[in-house]
Amino acid sequence: MSIAPLIEIRNLVKRYDTHTVLGGIDLDLAVGEIKVVMGPSGCGKSTLLRCLNRLVEPSSGVIRFRGEDICAPTADVRALRQRIGFVFQQFALYRHLSVLDNVTLALRKLRGIPRTQAEQLALHQLDRLDMADHRHKYPAQISGGQKQRVAIARALAMEPAVVLFDEPTSALDPVLSREVAALINRLHEEQVTMLCVTHDLALAQDIAEQVLFLDQGVICAQDSVARLASDHESPQVRAFFGRADNL
Ligand SMILES: Nc1ncnc2c1ncn2[C@@H]1O[C@H](COP(=O)(O)OP(=O)(O)O)[C@@H](O)[C@H]1O
Ligand SMILES: [Mg+2]
Repeated sequence: MSIAPLIEIRNLVKRYDTHTVLGGIDLDLAVGEIKVVMGPSGCGKSTLLRCLNRLVEPSSGVIRFRGEDICAPTADVRALRQRIGFVFQQFALYRHLSVLDNVTLALRKLRGIPRTQAEQLALHQLDRLDMADHRHKYPAQISGGQKQRVAIARALAMEPAVVLFDEPTSALDPVLSREVAALINRLHEEQVTMLCVTHDLALAQDIAEQVLFLDQGVICAQDSVARLASDHESPQVRAFFGRADNL
């Protein structure tokens, strides 16, 4: 018996007026799996992720989360968003809150967990990401890589079923990007289910054996970065994955 994927996307279409951003995406994500979607700027990567927690309403198609259609009229969007962690390019930390309070905020406000218990949960995640010593600092007092670790700790503290990463390294220099890649690999070893969209080739190669290539609104290739760069039939695909500057 096969186990249903955690997330099933079938023929997902998103249009803005006459502009078709997603032209029929099919994608499955199993529990414990990591998938990486790559593609040029503007190809619809963020739109795809935003459909998954209903920040964007699909024009047509189906997205199932644990077998249930997330766009059904009965779907509980609030509950869905609590099950899906989101990590953004710009970290999206609250500047006026300490590292610890950034991580506890959603636990307290969305989950209603009392402060002491929320702080214990938050510290556990911060410790896991080597950020516990920085818990009393404010975002302006830590580096970009550390901010991204706090953002990841905040997502993990909610015990999500899946973590979505939207260009997690694009605000970071190459050294810090490598740290984030190492962290994502560690989470993968710990069976955290993840979907990452990026145009960072080094990141993609570090965290996944294969990448999905999104172009013109469809997933038009799936292979290792090396094979896409050297063997793919389309010169555009070869050019995208052969960019030496990013490797
Ligand atoms: N709210 C919107 N209204 C109209 N067009 C949009 C909107 N959001 C995104 N788009 C368009 O959809 C396309 C894909 O955007 P996006 O998903 O952000 O791409 P990526 O994340 O791959 O850079 C772009 O052409 C963008 O201009
Ligand atoms: Mg984007």
